[in-house]
Amino acid sequence: MLDDTALSQALRPVFAEPHTARGLPNLCYTDADYHRLEANRLFARDWMCVGVGADIPRRGDAVAVDAAGQPILLVRGKDNAVRAFHNVCRHRGALLVEERHTGPVIVCPYHSWSYGLDGALVRTPEVGGLGVHTCPSVDKSTLGLLPVRAAMWLDFVFVNLSGTAPPLDEVVAPLADAWRDYATDRLVHGASWGLELQANWKLAIENYLECYHLPWVHPTLNSYSPLDLHELEFFGDRFFGPITKAYRADLPPELTLPTFPGLSEARWLKGEYPVAFPNLLLGIQRDQLFGIIVDPLATDRTRERVHLYFVDDGAARSEVEQARIETAKTAMIADWKSVFEEDVHIVERMQRGRANSQFDGGKLTALHDRCTRRFMQLVADGLAPHPEPSVQAAE
Ligand code: FES
Ligand SMILES: [Fe+2]
Repeated sequence: MLDDTALSQALRPVFAEPHTARGLPNLCYTDADYHRLEANRLFARDWMCVGVGADIPRRGDAVAVDAAGQPILLVRGKDNAVRAFHNVCRHRGALLVEERHTGPVIVCPYHSWSYGLDGALVRTPEVGGLGVHTCPSVDKSTLGLLPVRAAMWLDFVFVNLSGTAPPLDEVVAPLADAWRDYATDRLVHGASWGLELQANWKLAIENYLECYHLPWVHPTLNSYSPLDLHELEFFGDRFFGPITKAYRADLPPELTLPTFPGLSEARWLKGEYPVAFPNLLLGIQRDQLFGIIVDPLATDRTRERVHLYFVDDGAARSEVEQARIETAKTAMIADWKSVFEEDVHIVERMQRGRANSQFDGGKLTALHDRCTRRFMQLVADGLAPHPEPSVQAAE
């Protein structure tokens, strides 16, 4: 078991002033006890992103997700609302849905106890003997699926396992406000794919939080969106990351896509890539939004689920033009795939570096690692034994 005092001591260097701050120590990337602590404190007390509405597009759709080790079920109800439940049967604890389910009733594969889309236990076949479907000691009204607090922003589904976080609307307000010029109601889900990394989830996020590596890891991207046209931006305390001022400035006409209406000239060329702490990587540009859900599977194993949304500007177009747009979308998807894959190898190398006992968390540079430092401070705050932040992560 990790000792809270020793842990807090080990995390202290991330709170030093920018010129002397060091990164999180190796144990945060390699220790199984520490990983459990993150799940039980940081992820359980916060709003973690676990899926998207597009995963369950129709009423009656359900999808199994993993919320930092907890099996959770996302369900779209008859009223079209998305709800979350603990994905475990109230009888003897079988995992209820393995991957996905569609239909008005969710039936446990073990003894067929059946649940409605609102989580209510509706059938307990043969529970009182052959042909007897009720039993005095099984009160269906108290044995519905255990609900999980859930809320949505854009198309992203968040859960708060502890039930104690502030309302999601309040939490996302700084970024939602900064992005109010983007008509996000025009977004339509366009593509999704997954990546597996042999690395801790934090390394995937830390890599996303700096553009310093662009010239060496992403030479093609750097050729049209170079490092010197990038900056780091903060939206309140919990949203921060790189921005570019040269998003596809020289895009050939055949690759253009429908755009958000009414954007200013500055926004036209802006791409913004903030992390929504703790585990959602976002990107918004004039013609699309993407979100990468980062699933912490183990100390050294992470899954990324990428969801890309394109803008439907409502314009009427010829079939030829529509076909051109579909081709441009395919090219865009291929471009992002190759950029995100370029990061995998280097993130895995950082994980391998964490096996070295002499690595002390590393030197965070005052310029390039500002967002990384903030992220690490929020991680350290999230691990405190009490729910309040131990240190104000002021920038
Ligand atoms: S464990 Fe689900 S019905 Fe028995
Ligand atoms: Fe990268």
